[in-house]
Amino acid sequence: MRLGDQIEQDWDAAYAALTWQIDCGVDDFILDEPLDRFALPEARAVEVRAPAAPERPASAPPGAPRPAAYAPPPERPKIDPVVEATQAAARAKTLEALRAEIEAFSHCELKQGARTTVFADGNPKARVLILGEAPGRDEDQEGRPFVGRAGQLLDLMFAAIGLSRTSVDAETAFYITNVLPWRPPGNRDPEPGEIAMMRPFVERHIELVAPDVIVAMGNTPLFALTGTRGIMRARGTWAEALGRPLLPMTHPAYLLRNPIAKREAWDDLLTLRDRLRGA
Ligand code: URA
Repeated sequence: MRLGDQIEQDWDAAYAALTWQIDCGVDDFILDEPLDRFALPEARAVEVRAPAAPERPASAPPGAPRPAAYAPPPERPKIDPVVEATQAAARAKTLEALRAEIEAFSHCELKQGARTTVFADGNPKARVLILGEAPGRDEDQEGRPFVGRAGQLLDLMFAAIGLSRTSVDAETAFYITNVLPWRPPGNRDPEPGEIAMMRPFVERHIELVAPDVIVAMGNTPLFALTGTRGIMRARGTWAEALGRPLLPMTHPAYLLRNPIAKREAWDDLLTLRDRLRGA
């Protein structure tokens, strides 16, 4: 067998094995056991000596000063990612500029593991802005929020009160984005530090869209906007965030797992519809 054939066969076998695993539901590759890389034995310490002051070059005239001794570079100032995010968000005067600022923001580690930056979808003129948690696998692949199973349910829920993300009419449209623009590995819950870091972008996003009402889908957006958790208690009751009416609702992924809760979600949708109608 030629080497080329061997490589081709290995590639096909590897590809088949990978597709099989994806079909089985694998969406991340991790070790069997967690590995604490901070606990690994330290690399052999290497003694670093500052180089001695350089000799005066032989060609230098007698009495000429010796070149300056080596000085270590000055310590770089510590970066506060929340301050960086606040400044970046403030620079954005349009949604496109905000998207560019988020794409250029390099302090959130989630970005390293994500395929795409998921910014937003829907009509930015809509009266309703829906804030979700973070992209999942489907959203990470497609680059748009709420396109997986939970997103399909969300579209059906809002269609039931006459709202859609594709409507060009502000009255019947919604706009949708997430607290985090990058998928957390294995769809784990976002960490408070990640939420705090990306919050300035969320605030600016909402300012730029200027919706009449915000819907917080689940605990993470509720926490990002109000500093409190407890979606089951908060859902269905109007609150306020960033000077705008806020309606917390249960996340459609929760409704997929607990279909019985759809009844309360329907009540919440009617609460939203009444508010939009000025009732
Ligand atoms: N869940 C979310 O909160 N956001 C998405 O974009 C998808 C699923």
